[in-house]
Amino acid sequence: MSIGVVAHRGSSAELPEHTLAAYERALLQGADALECDVRLTRDGHLVCVHDRRVDRTSTGHGVVSGMTLQRLAELDYGSWHDPFPETADALVAERDRGLPDPEEPAGVQRLLTLTLLLDLVTAHPGARLFVETKHPVRYGGLVEAKVLAELHRFGLARPADPVEATALVMSFSASAVWRVRRSAPKLPTVLLGRSAAALVVVPGSTAIGPKIDVIREDPDIVRRATAQGRDTYTWTVDSAEDVALCRELGVRWVATNHPLAVRGWLGPA
Ligand code: G3P
Ligand code: CA
Repeated sequence: MSIGVVAHRGSSAELPEHTLAAYERALLQGADALECDVRLTRDGHLVCVHDRRVDRTSTGHGVVSGMTLQRLAELDYGSWHDPFPETADALVAERDRGLPDPEEPAGVQRLLTLTLLLDLVTAHPGARLFVETKHPVRYGGLVEAKVLAELHRFGLARPADPVEATALVMSFSASAVWRVRRSAPKLPTVLLGRSAAALVVVPGSTAIGPKIDVIREDPDIVRRATAQGRDTYTWTVDSAEDVALCRELGVRWVATNHPLAVRGWLGPA
C-alpha cells in the first residue's frame, strides 16, 4: 500500500489553517486526505479550530467552548495569516503544475464547521477526512458522540470496508478512541502519541499515530504496529528526508503542512 498524503489543517503552510480555502487547495495539490481538529461551541456545535482559544487564528478573542456558533461565525479566520508565505519558487512550481494562483492574501475566511468540511470531502470521490477530537475529558465523550452522529448523517460511520473508509477518527486520548471503537466498530481510529510509551496500549485503535520524532528515534515502532495488524499515521512530515524514512518503514499515512511538496517527493498517487 502506498503512502497517503494527509493535509494537516489543510494546505496550512500556504493558507490559513482550518479554512475552506486551505482544504480546497490541498485537494487541488493532490492530497489524499484532510486532517482537522474539532471542538464544541458553547451551544453544542462542532467547529474546526485547533487551539482552545480563537485568538491566534481569528480576529476575535475567547475560548471556543465558551462562545456560541453565532458569535464564532462573526469572526474572520483568514486575515491573520501572512499572504502566501511560501517562497516564490513554490508558487512557480504550482503554476508549472497548472494550479491556479492562490488568492493573495487569503482574505476573509469564515468559520469552518465539521458539516461544511464533510460537504467538501464527500463532493470529492476518494478523498478522506481524519477528524481529531479535542478536549475529550471535559465533555465526557460528548465530542466523540457528536462526531459520530455527524458521520452517521453523511453515511460515513459504518463503512462496508474499513480499509476504504472515507472518515477516520483520531485522539490523543485512549479512552476517546475506545469510545469511538465501541460505538462504531468498523470506523478506523488512530491513537495519537508524542512518545512511544503513550502508544504501547492501544485498545480500539486500528492505527498508531506517533509524532515523526518518535519514529526517528525508534523506527521499529512502525514494524511493531504492522505486526499487530495496525497502520501507522505520523505527523508532521514536511521534509524529503522524513518522507523517505516513512516510505522505507512502510508508514501508511503522513500528515503534512506542505501537501504539494510531499506529493512531489512521493510521485503521483
Ligand atoms: O495529526 C495529529 C496532529 O495534528 C496532532 O497535533 O496539535 O497539531 O493537533 P496537533
Ligand atoms: Ca490535529
